Amino acid sequence: MAVLKRLIFSGLILAFTFIPSAQVFAVEERDLEKQADLIAKLLVSCRAIIAQNQDLINDPDKGDKGFTGDIYISKVKEHFKNATDLEVSENDASSSDPVKRSLGTLLCSAKAVINESQKVINMKGKGFKKVIPAVVGRRTGFKYNKAMGVGYYLKQTSIRYRNPANHPDVLEAKYLKEFEGPGYPKDKGKGEVITNSDGSKVYRYMLPVYIKPACLKCHGEPKGEKDITGGIKEGYKEGEVRGAISVMIPYSPTNLAQVK
Ligand code: HEC
Repeated sequence: MAVLKRLIFSGLILAFTFIPSAQVFAVEERDLEKQADLIAKLLVSCRAIIAQNQDLINDPDKGDKGFTGDIYISKVKEHFKNATDLEVSENDASSSDPVKRSLGTLLCSAKAVINESQKVINMKGKGFKKVIPAVVGRRTGFKYNKAMGVGYYLKQTSIRYRNPANHPDVLEAKYLKEFEGPGYPKDKGKGEVITNSDGSKVYRYMLPVYIKPACLKCHGEPKGEKDITGGIKEGYKEGEVRGAISVMIPYSPTNLAQVK
C-alpha cells in the first residue's frame, strides 16, 4: 500500500512538473514577437533608405544614379544595425536559424527589387518614377513571401489602403483599429498566436507606421486631391496612424532559436 501511495504521489509530482506553465508560454511568445518585430524593422529600414534617396532617384537631370542593389543594401544594413544593434547579411538567407533565414531572405529580396529597377532609376529626363517606399516595400514583401513559402508573410497594410494588394484581413483590420484608438502606445507592435483551421499555428504581428511631414505630400491634405503618383490624398495629419507592417511566422519549436 505504502509503495502504491508513493507511486501515485511521485506520479502527481511528475504530472505537475511537465504541465507547461503560463510563464513558459509567455517567454516563447515574447521570443516570437521579437523575431517578427525584427522582420518588420528590416522592412522599415528598406523604406527609410528609399525615402532618404528619393531626390536622387527622382532627379531628371542625372542618368546613372549609382543607386545599385548593392549600395542600397549596404545602407539598409547600416540603418538596421543602428536601429536594432544586429548585423544582417545576404548569406543569412541560407542559414538554418529561421530568424536569420528570414532576415537574410528579406535583404536578398530588397536587393533584387532595386536591381530590377535599375533601368527605370537610371532613366534621364524622367523625374518621378514610382520608385517610392510603399511600392518598393510591397514588391519586396511579395518576393520575400515567395522565397520563404508556407507559414511566412510580410506586407504593408492600412484601413485606408490604396492598393488592393495591401487590403487588411480580419485580424489586421482589428489591430489597425486598436492602433488608431485613443491611448494606444506609440510605436508599440502587437502580436498573437493564431491556430489555423488545419491545426497549424502561426504567429501574427503588426508594427504601426505613422504619418510624418514627408508623407503629407501624398497622404495629407487637401483630401481628395491628386498627388504626384496620380493617387488620391487621404487627408491624413502628422502623427496619425497611416497603417502597419504585418508579419507572419510559423509557430514552431525551431522558430524559438535565438538570433545571435
Ligand atoms: C510620393 C507619394 C507618397 C509618399 C511621399 C508616401 N506615400 Fe505611402 N503610398 C503611396 C502610394 C502610391 C501607395 C500605394 C503603393 C502600392 O502600390 O502598394 C502608398 C501606400 C502606402 C502604404 C500601404 C497601404 C496602402 O495604402 O496601400 C503605407 C502603409 C504607406 N503608404 C505609408 C506611408 C508613410 C508612412 C509615408 C511617409 C513616411 C508615405 N507613405 C509616403 C504614395 C506615397
